[in-house]
Amino acid sequence: MFNIAVAQSGGPTCAINSSLVGVFREALKVPSVDAVFGSINGIEGIIDNHLVDLRTMILTNNDIELLKQTPSTVLGSCRYKLPDWREDEEVYKKIADTLRQRNIGAFLYIGGNDSMDTVKKLSEYFATIDLDVKIIGIPKTIDNDLCVTDHTPGFGSAAKYVAATMHEITRDSIVYSIPSVTIVEIMGRHAGWLTASSAVLHAMGETAPHLVYVPEVDFSLEKFIADVRQQMSKHKAVIVAVSEGIEVPEGVQSGVVDNFGHKYLSGIGKYLESVIRNEIGCKVRSIELNVMQRCSSHICSKTDIDEAEAVGAAGLRCAIEGGTGKVMVFRRIEDAPYTVVIETADAEDIANREKFLPAEYINSAGNNIRESALGYFLPLIQGDLNLITENGIPKHFALHESVLK
Ligand code: F6P
Repeated sequence: MFNIAVAQSGGPTCAINSSLVGVFREALKVPSVDAVFGSINGIEGIIDNHLVDLRTMILTNNDIELLKQTPSTVLGSCRYKLPDWREDEEVYKKIADTLRQRNIGAFLYIGGNDSMDTVKKLSEYFATIDLDVKIIGIPKTIDNDLCVTDHTPGFGSAAKYVAATMHEITRDSIVYSIPSVTIVEIMGRHAGWLTASSAVLHAMGETAPHLVYVPEVDFSLEKFIADVRQQMSKHKAVIVAVSEGIEVPEGVQSGVVDNFGHKYLSGIGKYLESVIRNEIGCKVRSIELNVMQRCSSHICSKTDIDEAEAVGAAGLRCAIEGGTGKVMVFRRIEDAPYTVVIETADAEDIANREKFLPAEYINSAGNNIRESALGYFLPLIQGDLNLITENGIPKHFALHESVLK
């Protein structure tokens, strides 16, 4: 008999807890697996030996259903960069100690490209010390920027929120007779996937978003102002989707960086709002979708939540079958009818790399998304969860605060 450890890492999504459910449920089916430990705050919980026995916390089918509809990371998260084990072995020794002491045979790490760096480094290190702990990465990120995989769990739900919110903003913006510009700032770091997903409204006959700016295209302020003027000549209310990751002048963002050296990117919407006010002088508003776009499980995609669970379960099976240093990935067979298969990739092909929006998804003017790209996005946002509610709002599953300390 051996135990399993699972942890969640990086920025929240609506689907990370569903992947945890996938790992947990699948582990319960394996006769040689005893406890399923959840590590608190990602790899930090393994370093500090701060683990909880999930079988004592997820007790009923109702708990499972609630967990699947709960956004963010029930076990907490981290942005922890492991050093190179050849230069600094200290923290690796602590990790190995915890895993040995808890009799862990497999560690499943649910995270993005930074977290896959942890999967890669740990699997390499364990090979050098002959520690037989299988390390498997389960992908997640609203940024959808992981290489190899067709898409990442969490993206579909965020994309659905972005498109639905954009739709609502469109209705709200057109009520007055005066011209206006509404700028919507969307997350996604250096990749424009999430911003591009706002264009699925075009598949419903909407002209909004009229302009879409993604980091894959060099941003020019002069061209932006000219684009807005041009759209204002055609539409009373111009709706602009802008990615948080486009190049901005020094000082627009806070300049603060995380452990991986990534900048906190918020601020471009407000900045462009002031540009339009000064240059065009019309009614202008900016809206930052901020953390709502990654935790709005009230409008999550059932496809996303179900796939997140499936990929978690597949990760556990991969570990039991002896896989290590692998990341579970999706390969799309068809857009319609939507078909995907789950496969494995090497962590080193995903760690610290980014996958960008293909050039053919972007129009020739570099300011919108082509109709032909919509077939990629549409299947990922389909389906609704039958949400369990209380007082009219979706219920969440949460561990007691004292557990998370
Ligand atoms: O990587 C996911 C993400 O949500 C990005 O889209 C965003 O730039 C970043 O995380 C925000 O970081 P934090 O969660 O630390 O605020």
